[in-house]
Amino acid sequence: MTRINQPHPVLRVDNLCVEFATTAGQIRAVDQLSFSVEAGQTLGIVGESGCGKSVTSLAIMGLLPKPAGRIVDGSVLLDGQELTRLPEGRLRQLRGAELSMIFQEPMTALNPVYSIARQMTAVLKRHQQLSARQARHRAIEMLARVGIPRPDQRIDDYPHQLSGGMRQRVMIAMALSCQPKLLIADEPTTALDVTTQAQVLRQMVDLQQELGTAVILITHDLGVIAETCDQAVVMYCGSKVEQAPVADLFLQPRHPYTAGLMQSIPRIREHKLDRLPVIEGQVPNLAALPPGCRFAGRCPNREDRCVQQQPPLTERGAQQFACFNPWNGPVES
Ligand SMILES: Nc1ncnc2c1ncn2[C@@H]1O[C@H](COP(=O)(O)OP(=O)(O)OP(=O)(O)O)[C@@H](O)[C@H]1O
Ligand SMILES: [Mg+2]
Repeated sequence: MTRINQPHPVLRVDNLCVEFATTAGQIRAVDQLSFSVEAGQTLGIVGESGCGKSVTSLAIMGLLPKPAGRIVDGSVLLDGQELTRLPEGRLRQLRGAELSMIFQEPMTALNPVYSIARQMTAVLKRHQQLSARQARHRAIEMLARVGIPRPDQRIDDYPHQLSGGMRQRVMIAMALSCQPKLLIADEPTTALDVTTQAQVLRQMVDLQQELGTAVILITHDLGVIAETCDQAVVMYCGSKVEQAPVADLFLQPRHPYTAGLMQSIPRIREHKLDRLPVIEGQVPNLAALPPGCRFAGRCPNREDRCVQQQPPLTERGAQQFACFNPWNGPVES
């Protein structure tokens, strides 16, 4: 049987488990996480602070802080190649060329003492074997494509001469300049105002689709997921609690945690901003996780068994969720 145009995942993460050695003992920051991303597709990872979003991206990139952080189980396949067993030298070659990342703090990623030109061309010369002239030409072209006006002049600016939105555009241009197979963008627009955020994300998505890059977009903002992603993974306390195509997720979230996140999005009704419902209760400590569902302590749908047993991941159509008593109700409060 021949398969025609069967999309294959650029990235396949399977049963990823990451642990940290801490003074409180060994903690598992990412637990049995699986997902895949296809070429040209954007997968969003969403969840509250501390749920393991950045640790997941650092694990994929091979950048976990050593020696405290370690992948203890699972597999990360980039185009069929196992990354968790690659020697550091080979991983370094892949980063920037095939794997690219935009970090949570943009100012720490751009070097303040070098011009944009110098930083962008260094990457292109190293990974694409371009001459200095070709690299500059390519860098200017990339800056234009992410919406930087007069890129032939702005390229000689230093990071502090650019606004926050311009700096993020530079980061995106730089990250995509070598046409990586996979781009991980960790909260790339959190520091920006809402209008600039929307523009920067739009430009990133347009360029990514043109180049066919697979993207993982990490955010705590479901609005960003709705605007930019094809699929979303919802994480809670290091685990995937739900995954679905974005349209399905917003139509009917199945995990009560996802429903809670959606109810926390501000809505304006009858010219008044509604009081925001919050998810009551505390996220459990990773060093002392409960035996059952990690969300049970805060869950409005809790049953007795939720406290004792971890709900397995259940599939319903294209949607997956880890819940014994899934949400069926509306998400409007
Ligand atoms: N270097 C480290 N040593 C020990 N524990 C760590 C380390 N880095 C992260 N962790 C733990 O891993 C967990 C997940 O952290 P992570 O940075 O992935 O959260 P996040 O989802 O990215 O949150 P945020 O939205 O705040 O960026 C946290 O509970 C944190 O305590
Ligand atoms: Mg983070």
